[in-house]
Amino acid sequence: MLKTKKMIPLAVPHMSGMEEKYIQKAFQENWIAPLGSNVDGFEASIASYNHVSESAVVSSGTAAIHLALQLLGVGAGDTVFCSTFTFVASINPALYLGAKPVFIDSEQETWCMSPFALKTALEDARKKNQLPKAIIVVHIYGQSAKMDEIIALAKEYGVPVVEDAAESLGGTYRNAPLGTLGDFGIFSFNGNKIITTSGGGALVAKQPEKIAEARFLASQSKEDAPYYLHHQVGYNYRLSNVLAGIGIAQMDVLNDRVAKKQEIFATYEKGLADVPSVVMMPELDVAKGNRWLSTMTFCVDTVGKTPEDVMELLKARGIDSRLLWKPMHHQPLFQDALFYADGAGDVATKLYETGLCLPSSTQMTQEEQEYVIDTVKEILIK
Ligand SMILES: Cc1ncc(COP(=O)(O)O)c(C=O)c1O
Repeated sequence: MLKTKKMIPLAVPHMSGMEEKYIQKAFQENWIAPLGSNVDGFEASIASYNHVSESAVVSSGTAAIHLALQLLGVGAGDTVFCSTFTFVASINPALYLGAKPVFIDSEQETWCMSPFALKTALEDARKKNQLPKAIIVVHIYGQSAKMDEIIALAKEYGVPVVEDAAESLGGTYRNAPLGTLGDFGIFSFNGNKIITTSGGGALVAKQPEKIAEARFLASQSKEDAPYYLHHQVGYNYRLSNVLAGIGIAQMDVLNDRVAKKQEIFATYEKGLADVPSVVMMPELDVAKGNRWLSTMTFCVDTVGKTPEDVMELLKARGIDSRLLWKPMHHQPLFQDALFYADGAGDVATKLYETGLCLPSSTQMTQEEQEYVIDTVKEILIK
C-alpha cells in the first residue's frame, strides 16, 4: 500500500527545467512585452511541429477560437455547430460574436462529434435555409474525431471547420497533426494541458495568410501608420514574450509528454481489464491521440455507484479524479439551443452519467499509478 499524504493530482504542469533560461532571455533583452524573440521562437516551434508554415500564439485557447470565428465572418444571428461533449470555452466565443450555438452529439467509437448527428443537423439547417457559419469539432481528451466523415460533410454543405485541439496537441489522424485538418485549428497551453505556458493558446490555419490577419486582430487591429489608426474591432490577445519563453522549453519535451500520457493510459487499460463493465476511452485505428487524460466508463447498475460516488471515494483515499464533461446542451446557459443526437441516442449524456477521468499527470510514479488502479478496482468491484 502506498503511503502518501499528498493528493495524487489529476493533471499538473510538468516543467522541462529549461523554462527559466528563456524567461531570463526576455528579461535580459528587456522584452517584457506581448511580442519579442520568445514569441517568434514559440510560433516557429508550434508551426514546425504541426507541419504548417505559420502559427499565431495568443493569450488563451479561447482567444484563438474567437479569432478563428471572427476570421470566418461569424456574427450576430449566425449559427455555429459545436460538439456538445466539451468544455464551455469551445463555444463561448460564438456568444461573444452574437451567434447561436447548435449542439452535436458524440458517437461511441471516439466520444467526439457524431457524423450521423452532424448530417441530420446540416440537412435540417439547409431546409430552414440557415446553414451554420462554422462547425467546431472538439478532439476531446486528446483523442481524434472521425475527421474524414466530418470534413466530407462540411465540404458537401460548404461550411468551414474549426478544430478545437485545445486538449490534443501531439495527437494525429491519418498521421496528420490534429488541428491541421480543418480550416482553422486551435491549441491551449492552460495549466492542466499536455504542455503549458500557465495560460496561452495558438492558432493555425489552412491558409497561412489568415495567421497574419489573426495577429492583426489580436493586436487591437492597429494599422501600420505613423499614428494610431483603426478601421475595425480588435482584441488584446497576443501572448506575453515571458510566457512564450516557457512555451519554447515545453515544446522540447512535448513528444516525451505524449509518450508518457500514452503509457499511463496503457497501464490503466491493462490494470483495469478484469474489472467488469469498465470500458476505457476508445480510439480509431487511423488515429493516435495524446491521451491527455485517461478516461473510462463503467456500468452504474453493475457497480452500484455513480461516477460522483466513485470520485468522492477516490478523494477520501487521496486520489483526484474528475467527472466527464457535462454536455453543453444540459447547461442552463444554453437551455434554448438545439441539440442533434447520434443514432444510438444521446451518447454524450450517457458518457457523462457513466464516466470518470483518472489521474494522468506525467510525473505520476509507477507506485502511485498502481495505488490508483488498486483503489479503483476495490471501489468498483465491492
Ligand atoms: C476543449 C477545450 N476547448 C477550449 C479550451 C480553452 O482553452 P483556454 O483555457 O486556453 O482558453 C479548453 C481548455 O481550457 C478545452 O479543454
